[in-house]
Amino acid sequence: MSSNDSSSPRRNRGDVLTTVTYKPYPTVQALGRAPLHGPSIEQHVVFILGVGPGLGLAIAQIFAKQGYTVAIASRNKQRLDGWAKELDQEIRSARKALNVAVNDSSPQSVAFACDVLSPEAIRKTFQDIANTWPNKRVGTAIFNASIRKRGPFLEQRPEQLQDSIQASITGGFTFMQAAVASMTKNNEGRGGSILVTGATSSIRGREGFAAFAASKGGLRQICQSVAREYGPQHIHVAHIIVDGLIDSQQARDFLGLQKGQRFGNDAVLRPEEMAKAWLFLASQNESTWTFEMDMRPAREHF
Ligand SMILES: NC(=O)c1ccc[n+]([C@@H]2O[C@H](COP(=O)([O-])OP(=O)(O)OC[C@H]3O[C@@H](n4cnc5c(N)ncnc54)[C@H](OP(=O)(O)O)[C@@H]3O)[C@@H](O)[C@H]2O)c1
Repeated sequence: MSSNDSSSPRRNRGDVLTTVTYKPYPTVQALGRAPLHGPSIEQHVVFILGVGPGLGLAIAQIFAKQGYTVAIASRNKQRLDGWAKELDQEIRSARKALNVAVNDSSPQSVAFACDVLSPEAIRKTFQDIANTWPNKRVGTAIFNASIRKRGPFLEQRPEQLQDSIQASITGGFTFMQAAVASMTKNNEGRGGSILVTGATSSIRGREGFAAFAASKGGLRQICQSVAREYGPQHIHVAHIIVDGLIDSQQARDFLGLQKGQRFGNDAVLRPEEMAKAWLFLASQNESTWTFEMDMRPAREHF
């Protein structure tokens, strides 16, 4: 039976338009008030892989300010431990304001050492999170790590391509597999969100970026595939195309900015402003899911 066949349930979305008993919808609310999609705040862990001082940390902070338990991971555990302590305090204050109980004996934010080049390490980190909070589960999984080695095409070595692919494609694939497995396990709760950081290279190759573009493009296709397969099981996959330079000390040093100078507001992406989009995507109601969002500063060429 083809999907054009008039008897096909797909023809008039007969397979989609299921019905439930009518209850009025809530009225329009201010942004940031909706709970995250997935388990309730008491049972929800937001997990971010690839946390440095830029976007990764800003994303962790925005979810902490909403009172959600946050797990952060990258290679430098010592640096992460300091941030986890600060996030813990942030989460406790937010919960107090929201009147949500906090279990004082368990930390609300924990750092994990994880190298995205190792699929075993990624799977182990999910297991470590489950062991740390046995009564919670990952409800929002954020993949932010990547390896970008640019250079003239003829000078790019196969190992550079291999690293980019291993980080974004194998790493992203493993991360999403582990996230989906934990979100569908025992049919607990109602799915969750998987948010994946992309770049201009996710949709456009350019000079010097062959390896990175191949890996980011592949990651985007994995996101599309998982979104289509697991949307019906209440898992929201969203891919965010970061189309511009993210403000950071590293970028300021690289571009030769003097002490006391910064980039204009319209020239670079600011992590604390970007993070609002991750919160927005994770709180979308399942009636209205975004698969892809792109963002750039006002002056960016595109
Ligand atoms: N920066 C930009 O201008 C820009 C532009 C477009 C898109 N993006 C995308 O934005 C994301 C990163 O945001 P950001 O640049 O602001 O960085 P960030 O969130 O400040 O830090 C990302 C962190 O990823 C970690 N990481 C690197 N390699 C890793 C590995 N092998 N395993 C585990 N973690 C690793 C690093 O921490 P450790 O050293 O502790 O491992 C790094 O600090 C990436 O997906 C990138 O492709 C960035």
